[in-house]
Amino acid sequence: MAGVNRGRQDWPTARTADRHALYTAAVQAPAADARQFARWHRQLTGRPLRRLREDFCGTAALAAAFVRQHPEATAVGVDRDRDTLAWARSHTLAALHPAERARLQLRCGDVRTVRTAPVQMVVACNFSYMVFHTRAELREYLRACRRALQPGGVLLLDSWGGGLVHRPCVERHRSHGFDWLWHQRRFDPVTHRIDCRIHFRFRDGSALDDAFVYDWRLWMLPELRELFAEAGFDGVHVRQEVVSPRTGLGTGRFRRVDRGRADPTWHAYVVGQRGRR
Ligand SMILES: C[S@@+](CC[C@H](N)C(=O)[O-])C[C@H]1O[C@@H](n2cnc3c(N)ncnc32)[C@H](O)[C@@H]1O
Repeated sequence: MAGVNRGRQDWPTARTADRHALYTAAVQAPAADARQFARWHRQLTGRPLRRLREDFCGTAALAAAFVRQHPEATAVGVDRDRDTLAWARSHTLAALHPAERARLQLRCGDVRTVRTAPVQMVVACNFSYMVFHTRAELREYLRACRRALQPGGVLLLDSWGGGLVHRPCVERHRSHGFDWLWHQRRFDPVTHRIDCRIHFRFRDGSALDDAFVYDWRLWMLPELRELFAEAGFDGVHVRQEVVSPRTGLGTGRFRRVDRGRADPTWHAYVVGQRGRR
């Protein structure tokens, strides 16, 4: 992973670390996600996925993994943060073969207003749409996604929840040469406003606190399904992550469900399709 060294002598420290490289190594699995989304697209439409829009793309890791997977795959990544997109150009895109790079476009803009060529799938990962705090804002975004899709195109948003999500907590995860902490700092049951942060801890004892800070509304699955329908999506459904009965942990496999499992924490995708008209 760019910027995260593998050798013990090169382990990052708070002084040398690149927070985008740490984030990508810690919380993303872009190649596996790109394969999974292509499989779901084929299941739903009977067609191979060749045109993808990654909203809130950040470092554009998913869009890059997607263009790597097929010589005809094209992607557009949308984010409003110029500095993060500059990082994506100098790291993620720079690591691509020129032929792959030519098939990946980055657009700086707001996901609600940016205009892009029609795609077969729009995807927003790692709960980024939770920056929208009102139904009106989220519905406006979902309508923009529908406009961005070809007829029959698919929208995927991920979601997480469960009783434990309402409690303050810090989960520590080990990664290559560093640990990362997922910190649920505050949750308000009235507004569903949630304050989440990512911190990093390094092997030399140094720390990078509040490397990423999120002020989100924790949207619930029934609200998301209703808003998808209000924005004009058909076939709206949920795919919930299968939990291993042995470890109690998510397996990375998702199953379409009409009735979900009330795990203490769960991860799911909400899926909707633009009609053929
Ligand atoms: C949690 S990061 C997501 C990074 C990546 N998509 C992932 O899966 O890990 C959220 C990103 O959304 C961007 N963002 C927030 N609001 C936005 C908006 N209205 N339009 C476009 N980008 C936005 C931020 O600049 C940031 O890069």
